[in-house]
Amino acid sequence: MSTAAKEKISYRPFLKWAGGKSKLIPQYEKFFPKEFNNYYEPFLGGGAVFFHLLQTRSPFKAVLTDINADLINTYCCVRDHVEELIKLLEVHQKRHNSEYYYDLRNYHNLKGLEAAARFIYLNRTCFNGLYRVNPKGEFNVPIGKYKNPNICNIDLLYSVSEALQSIEIAERGFEAVLDYAKTSEDFVYFDPPYYPLSDTSNFTGYSRYSFSKDDQIRLRDVFAELANCGVKVMLSNSDCEFIRDIYSEFKIYRILAARAINSNGKKRGKIAEVLVTSY
Ligand SMILES: C[S@@+](CC[C@H](N)C(=O)[O-])C[C@H]1O[C@@H](n2cnc3c(N)ncnc32)[C@H](O)[C@@H]1O
Repeated sequence: MSTAAKEKISYRPFLKWAGGKSKLIPQYEKFFPKEFNNYYEPFLGGGAVFFHLLQTRSPFKAVLTDINADLINTYCCVRDHVEELIKLLEVHQKRHNSEYYYDLRNYHNLKGLEAAARFIYLNRTCFNGLYRVNPKGEFNVPIGKYKNPNICNIDLLYSVSEALQSIEIAERGFEAVLDYAKTSEDFVYFDPPYYPLSDTSNFTGYSRYSFSKDDQIRLRDVFAELANCGVKVMLSNSDCEFIRDIYSEFKIYRILAARAINSNGKKRGKIAEVLVTSY
């Protein structure tokens, strides 16, 4: 797609995602590398950084991965079967009410397109767009308080689908990025579940795999291995001694984010995060 054509389309995430980076992008902008040919995002979630780069950078190849199989199936269906997906979403949009939400939430074994439509429906209507599953891997977030949730944003889904046409999307743990990114033409952005600032902020329930202190260290090792090959690497995490310590050989910038720091979502404050770069 030409740059002129891209400027007319406004790309943005089609999912709400806890920890989504949309609001931080103005602060991140000056830290993104000026140029790269290949982009890798191993903790994809809602993909806010990918959609921003799509809008603002010259054409690049991309590989988007995440460990959450339902999320990846949804991206693949948006890319490959957007028309059929929209038809299913329109049905959900028409039928949406509390009873319908809890009925559909119980259908844990759907596959393919039906699973993707359910995933988007639940994401647009559940509490705060959270993704949380029980130990059996079943989505268990209650309904949110939205008057008229926009479940089927047709224009957005079509534009995202077109943008994803040449993009590789796969279910992978973050280490798989080592198979892909190898040179200074590559840019990797890591947005892992954050290291908790306190025991009560220990929310890492995006998938049935939680993200432990050892995982943070394994991620640092992957970051360092990529950096050694000349790959441009950038990572977001919480601002705390442990994270500053394990990334001390790299550049660390402080970012201030508006976040709910209290279980009462109305009590919002600024919380410090870090952005680490290898370049
Ligand atoms: C903070 S979210 C990413 C948010 C995303 N950057 C956005 O803007 O919406 C973290 C993501 O990491 C994924 N994840 C958790 N553990 C993982 C692992 N070991 N390997 C790959 N992805 C993982 C989760 O499924 C979740 O989608």
